[in-house]
Parts: sequence; structure tokens; C-alpha cells
Amino acid sequence: MGTGNQPEQPADLQEVRIAFIGCGRNARGHMRRLESIPGARIVGVCDVVPALAGEAASATGATAYHDYCALLDRPDLDAVYLSLPVFAHGKPEMAVIERGLPFFVEKPVALDLATAQEIAGRVARAGLLACVGYQLRYCGSTDAARESLAMPDAGPIGLATGTYWCGTGRSQPGHWRTTMARSGGQLVEQATHTLDMMRFLAGEIAEVFAMYSRQVLPPEFGDCPDVHAVALRFAGGGAGTLSATWAIHPEDWSRANLVDVAFGERRLHWSATGLTVAHGRATEERSRPDRSIDAVFVDAVRRGDGSAIRSPYADGVRSLAVALAANESARRGAPVRVEAL
Ligand SMILES: NC(=O)c1ccc[n+]([C@@H]2O[C@H](COP(=O)([O-])OP(=O)(O)OC[C@H]3O[C@@H](n4cnc5c(N)ncnc54)[C@H](O)[C@@H]3O)[C@@H](O)[C@H]2O)c1
Repeated sequence: MGTGNQPEQPADLQEVRIAFIGCGRNARGHMRRLESIPGARIVGVCDVVPALAGEAASATGATAYHDYCALLDRPDLDAVYLSLPVFAHGKPEMAVIERGLPFFVEKPVALDLATAQEIAGRVARAGLLACVGYQLRYCGSTDAARESLAMPDAGPIGLATGTYWCGTGRSQPGHWRTTMARSGGQLVEQATHTLDMMRFLAGEIAEVFAMYSRQVLPPEFGDCPDVHAVALRFAGGGAGTLSATWAIHPEDWSRANLVDVAFGERRLHWSATGLTVAHGRATEERSRPDRSIDAVFVDAVRRGDGSAIRSPYADGVRSLAVALAANESARRGAPVRVEAL
């Protein structure tokens, strides 16, 4: 077993044996990152497409499965990663919870709120550690932003704007990601990262008023809206906006996943790679070390302590709820309170 790339690790470090349900592109990224985390060992990988499970097994030294129940019947698992298309959530999580296993689940946590809330209830009743894949919460720029917003003379948060412009909608005709009934569209599947970061920096979002359109992409690129404008009201009293499109050139990521916040006399500009705080004519770059969500999760499982997890399952459900409220608002043509969903 193993690929020979395992890092040096202390002899007494307790191994964390990990299974994967879903071996698609995103899962393979987590597998690569886990290889460099001391004590993390991938022992089983499952995909309904046997070739994908086989490839992941060859890359990691794990055993391949095409049925997640057979994978979960292994007696040696410490934790499970679920990296599934949005529509596939529900039964796999229930099976993981039934076996009492801590899990990491990719965002968004589900396609609909009823499924997400059912899973959240079971996680809470089982007292399980569950981490949602909002990895941007662990960026150094995020720590620097939260510290800036919490400075004693920071002043109240007035305005927060999020931007997610990219070309993902053009990449794969017929893909589940650009089919509304399978992904929930760009805000649920992708710009959820920006909404989640706006929540993490500026607080809970109470109400949304969304306008969507299908304006740019030709019909072969699925049936989702391709431009989105959303007005937001924060529970703390501030206002905000989110603009999102996945119809621009697929190589242009320069305006993807950005958040600006006006607080007191200052403003900040956040991205995954940096933070700028401006006060009058003075601007300052602020940074803190990045942390790996995978390392935080593995360590939490090893210690049986989820306190370092910044997006526990129930919190991930709240980010899903904001995106679903925006979808509902666009459908109705009226503002929607998130808690009324
Ligand atoms: N955090 C991030 O930055 C980030 C980045 C990319 C994708 N994602 C998320 O990761 C998830 C997966 O995205 P992806 O791009 O890897 O998609 P993908 O389609 O490449 O991979 C999903 C895999 O799950 C498999 N699958 C479906 N149902 C299954 C089941 N019941 N049992 C086992 N396998 C099953 C599919 O065959 C597929 O190989 C999505 O939720 C996506 O939003 C997160």
C-alpha cells in the first residue's frame, strides 16, 4: 500500500485511515494533498464509474470499490470524504452517519434544504464531527480580514460586495454542473464560496432579492441562468450585493471569488491570495499563514475534537440556504427571507 510519497512522520503519530466516496476531479485534488499530511492514509476509494475508482486506487495504493456500502463495511475506517455531484447527496451521508464515521463533505452540502437539514439533524444526534469543504475559510487572507474587521476602531460593517465571474459554464456541454436540476446553478454549486465568505466576514445574510438571466451562453451549455445579480440584507443591518456569471472566457479567473467590505471609514479587498485594507489614501497589504483544510480535518479526526473546523455541517447548510433563497427570489421576482425557506 502507499505510493512511496508519504512524508516522514513520528513513529507515535496515530494513523487516520480515510475512504473516498466519489473519485472525480475535486476528490483527486484532496487525495494529492492528503499524501503530504503525516499520518493520513487513503485505504478505500469508491466511484460509480469503476474506471475512476481504479485510477484513484492506482494513484493512492487504496482498494477500489464501486458501491459505497461495500466500502463503508470495512472495519478499519476512521473518516470518509464525500466529493459528489450536487444531486447525489443524501443516502451516502446517511450511510456514513449510520456507521458513526466522521466525514468531510464538499460544498454545497445538498441540492435541497430538506435533504441538508435531515443530514444535519442526524449529524447532531450522532454527535459526529463533519467538515464542509469551504477551504477559503482557512486562507491567511481570511484570518487577516477577520482581524481587520475586529480591530477596536474598525467601525461597523456597512457594505459587502461579492464577485464570482468565470467561464465554467462554457467548459463541458451536458455536464451535471450546468444542469439546473442536478447542480442548482452557479450560486448553489460555485458562487456558494463567495456567499460563504461574505457570511464569514460580514455576518449572517437575512434576506435576498435576486435577478437572473440566461443572456450569453448558447443552449448546448445546459439550462442554468448565466448572469446573476443579488441584493443582500445582513442580519447585522448592513447591505450587500453579489454578482456572478460563468459565461465569460474560461481562461479569465481574474474576477472570480472576490469580496469587498466597507467598514467604518475603511474598506478591505479580500481574495484567496491576499488582503488589502484601505483607510483614506493609505493602503496596506495584510497577511497571515495559510492553513490546509485537509490537515485541519485529519488532525480533528485524530484528536476527536472538531473545534478547529471552521465550517461544521450545520454552518454549511446556512450557506446553501442563502443560495437557494436567491434562486427562489429570482423565480418569484420578489425578496425572500432566508429563514422563511
Ligand atoms: N471546494 C472546492 O473548491 C471545490 C472545487 C471543485 C469541486 N468542488 C465540489 O466537489 C464536488 C465534486 O465535484 P467534481 O468537480 O469533482 O465532480 P465530478 O463529477 O468530477 O466528480 C464526482 C464523482 O462522483 C461520482 N459519483 C456520483 N455518485 C456517486 C455515488 N453514489 N457513489 C460513488 N461515486 C459517485 C461520479 O461518478 C464522479 O466521478 C461538487 O460538490 C463540487 O461542487 C469543490
